[in-house]
Amino acid sequence: MRAVRVIELTGPKALEVVEIEEPAAGSDELLVDVRAAGVSFPELLQTRGQYQLKIEPPYTLGGELAGVVRAAPAGSEIAPGDRVTAFAPFGGAFAEVAVVPRWMAFRLPDALSFEQGAGYLMNYHTAHFALARRAALRAGETLLVHGAAGGTGTAAIQVGKGLGARVVGVVSSDEKERVARAAGADEVVRSEGDWRTAAGPVDVIFDPVGGARFDESVRALAPEGRLVVIGFTEGTIPSVAVNRLLFRNISVIGAGWGHFAFEHPEYLAEVAADLERMVAAGHVDPVVGRRYPLERAADALADLDGRRGLGKIVLYTGEESG
Ligand SMILES: NC(=O)c1ccc[n+]([C@@H]2O[C@H](COP(=O)([O-])OP(=O)(O)OC[C@H]3O[C@@H](n4cnc5c(N)ncnc54)[C@H](OP(=O)(O)O)[C@@H]3O)[C@@H](O)[C@H]2O)c1
Repeated sequence: MRAVRVIELTGPKALEVVEIEEPAAGSDELLVDVRAAGVSFPELLQTRGQYQLKIEPPYTLGGELAGVVRAAPAGSEIAPGDRVTAFAPFGGAFAEVAVVPRWMAFRLPDALSFEQGAGYLMNYHTAHFALARRAALRAGETLLVHGAAGGTGTAAIQVGKGLGARVVGVVSSDEKERVARAAGADEVVRSEGDWRTAAGPVDVIFDPVGGARFDESVRALAPEGRLVVIGFTEGTIPSVAVNRLLFRNISVIGAGWGHFAFEHPEYLAEVAADLERMVAAGHVDPVVGRRYPLERAADALADLDGRRGLGKIVLYTGEESG
């Protein structure tokens, strides 16, 4: 099978697409024919050895996928032939065949294509964990989403709508504004302007960007507001003077989905069911941006690096992943 391999930790250009043996599934794993794989920031960081999870090269890159189950353990709730969306925590998704833990795979709702399914598991579970569990977002509250046209950003818009919030997106260009609106944002403001005044006070902020705008985000919170930290695509990790949290009874909260998911498999299933409800209600409809064949994984990662991602960037393995 073809697979995208990390050979050395010098960035996306060093990736190699090679023919290797198909992997074999263990007793609690599914073997999946991959139709599409999701491309995410952690993979970009992994190609440089900068991600918290360190895997020794050579290895097959890729953390999430959608495809058709080829083999499943006896007694599994998922059977051969099922369409699934799955998380591959230790890589392996950028390949024609992958192995995933059985508890990290869920049936792909019929309404979603494989490419949508490739951008579904990590981003939508992260958005749900961050907004519903960590920030306790309530119906009727205002949610502000930074990086609102990106992978986690579009997911946060849709999960926020599914939870009954009014959603304001923050983006850096006209094209990204169109994507955030199409994803479901009620309002969109521009990051280069006075976005805080344009947005008004907000109850919850979903922040995958960090960096310089973090200070303004803290100021943008209404009394008892919550800022949930997702990542730092801008590159710098901000800090906060905690006296500012006291004055207005505001909170800065971390949301690290991967660590939590590993310790709480039953919670994953609960969220999968709630997301299915949101798909059926029309709130969740993953936004697929650029799509590349497997061979062009390095170009896909360069898009993320160059801030050109719109919605989720995906790789497909066949002619038509559908
Ligand atoms: N905590 C968790 O559990 C968890 C889970 C998944 C991902 N993450 C993290 O979340 C972050 C976002 O992931 P994503 O998949 O949403 O990425 P993405 O699709 O590339 O979106 C990130 C957004 O960040 C903004 N941005 C601002 N400055 C940037 C810069 N210098 N370079 C690149 N983007 C910049 C861009 O929006 P504008 O151009 O509109 O500003 C971009 O659309 C990553 O750090 C990832 O590791 C965390």
